[in-house]
Amino acid sequence: MLKSPGDRINSVPMIIGSHALVLIMLVLGLSACSNDEPQLTATNSTPSATVETKRLPIAAEQLQHGHDLFLSHCAQCHGQNAQGATNWQQRDSSGAFPAPPLNGTGHAWHHPRAVLEDTIRNGTARLGGKMPAWKDKLSDQEIRTIVVWLQSLWPDEIYAAWYRMERESRQ
Ligand code: HEC
Repeated sequence: MLKSPGDRINSVPMIIGSHALVLIMLVLGLSACSNDEPQLTATNSTPSATVETKRLPIAAEQLQHGHDLFLSHCAQCHGQNAQGATNWQQRDSSGAFPAPPLNGTGHAWHHPRAVLEDTIRNGTARLGGKMPAWKDKLSDQEIRTIVVWLQSLWPDEIYAAWYRMERESRQ
């Protein structure tokens, strides 16, 4: 799952696809409103209003804690804002992939929460990757708090796509 470059490449059209869908919905929404109901303007037609996000409110302290943990343990490879290493899609000289973005622009949102937490807990050495295991350094609760902070960075449409996949993975 983590080592296949095809997997990573496949995620690009899906992201573009979901943006395109939101755009189409936005355009349709605007043109439907423009003639008869001029009072229904942009606020009712924003992309975030047209997708299911199911975001739960998260306490500011929890987000801050997640960000602090990320800065202490993860940022050295994944970047201060989880933007990933430069050229993260190209194998380095040792044949391994550099740390990918976790801010919603990469591939992480294709994984259910349980898989993300498991990757963080156990690392990717067993798959030939370079991500260390965190289970001896971070509690399950701390790992979950980091994931909550990462997800707060994801755009609404990415979060919504993840949420649909997460729900299906539990059925
Ligand atoms: C030493 C560098 C390094 C550190 C530190 C590190 N990672 Fe990673 N991480 C990686 C690499 C490299 C990969 C890609 C793994 C692969 O291709 O096998 C990765 C992959 C991941 C993935 C899977 C992403 C995907 O697209 O499927 C997650 C989630 C993740 N890291 C979270 C974290 C978190 C959270 C921390 C801090 C607790 C952390 N990482 C710390 C190097 C690192």
